[in-house]
Amino acid sequence: MDKLLIRGPKPLSGSVEVAGAKNATLPIMAATLLTPEPCVIRHVPLVQDVKTMMKLLQILGKQAELKGDTLYLSDGKSLNVEAPYEIVKQMRASYYVLGPLLAREHRARVSLPGGCAIGPRPIDLHLKGMRALGAEIAIEHGYIAARARQLAGSEMLLEGSHGPSVGASANVMMAATLAQGRTVIHGASCEPEVVNLAEFLVALGARITGAGTPTITVDGVGQLHGTDFQPIPDRIEAGTLALAAAITRSRVELTGCRPEHMSALLEKMRGTGCSVEASGSTLKLDGRHAVKPVDVTTAPYPGFPTDCQAQFTALLCLAAGRSVVTEHVFESRYLHALELARMGARIDVDANQAVIDGVPKLSGAPVMASDIRASASLVLAGLAAEGETEISRIYHLDRGYARLEEKLRRLGADVTRIR
Ligand code: UD1
Repeated sequence: MDKLLIRGPKPLSGSVEVAGAKNATLPIMAATLLTPEPCVIRHVPLVQDVKTMMKLLQILGKQAELKGDTLYLSDGKSLNVEAPYEIVKQMRASYYVLGPLLAREHRARVSLPGGCAIGPRPIDLHLKGMRALGAEIAIEHGYIAARARQLAGSEMLLEGSHGPSVGASANVMMAATLAQGRTVIHGASCEPEVVNLAEFLVALGARITGAGTPTITVDGVGQLHGTDFQPIPDRIEAGTLALAAAITRSRVELTGCRPEHMSALLEKMRGTGCSVEASGSTLKLDGRHAVKPVDVTTAPYPGFPTDCQAQFTALLCLAAGRSVVTEHVFESRYLHALELARMGARIDVDANQAVIDGVPKLSGAPVMASDIRASASLVLAGLAAEGETEISRIYHLDRGYARLEEKLRRLGADVTRIR
């Protein structure tokens, strides 16, 4: 298993390009199951989850080929309808094949994903949505077994006790594209990745309005065709790199990003004293004064993204004072706090809240990654900490970041991958 060795603290400088969005690319890849025609997806992030989704699509009978960062997807001889446990347990987002398979093949067997390091992650809203479209669903032998003669449009509320669901909104939207009649999803997620999926589906010939608002309307069509598409830039990778500039008190430029997707994060970064200048698709960060504590509460888009909470927490560990972080999306997403504490951070976690008393410095230590974004927070802490930080289990990091260490090295960080 690979490890990362970081020697810090070292200031960063220079410019780096942001990758395509993992969380947009994954549902877009699954959506190609809706059409027999070839699709081309450009600028895909070369992260492990994209490779896992390629493997899953191949198991389902698609042909998937990556040339550089362009992905070519087309139908094989016939489609299979079973997403096996071996794949789903590696990546929960495998559930994105449920909607497309039900819509096109009228049946699907998708393994239940099981436990998750960031807390309980039910899939009741996905199933509620599919049932509303007329699917019969049973849970048998660890699998979701779903079938429907023909999906039929319907009106539904897809919001749970933690607000809208990105995954359920996307899954039901995909299923509804080939359903008979009109589907109206109330309480839909407004995340840019859901909007981007809707744009992709429209490029396939789907009829969708309202994406980006809490009410999405889908008018079913008879069939969908192929397309050539480039997903949006990754706002979470961009946020992580922006926070790398802040935590190392450095000046860094990010290119190829969409600052308008990062408003809540950038506003909080400004609150710490970090200077943020957005111009078109470029972001200029100056973290030399990013020392003020701020309170952060995660929320669905356009709120502060839960996927940047762990990385922001790392920054707050070095603020001059007390910050409070409240997690409203995944309530027990604080595994990184104990690892950060091993580096000298003072974090007190109580239920969904972390109280962070900033310390003047962190010190390098051996630490363990527990999920994608927790790993990124340890990398950030390592960049700022004195001495050596060795991060193990970085397969978590590799699921969501394409060779993050290379990007950081280009900015001047001392980061090595140990195989
Ligand atoms: C997606 C992202 C993930 C991000 C999350 C929230 C992908 C591949 N993953 O995950 O990185 O952290 O959005 O922005 O895009 N919930 C239910 N029932 C359901 C589904 C969800 O109660 O059927 C709850 C969840 O437990 C959570 C909240 O709704 O508390 C939001 O989850 P959701 O938006 O569905 O997250 P994912 O789509 O799994």
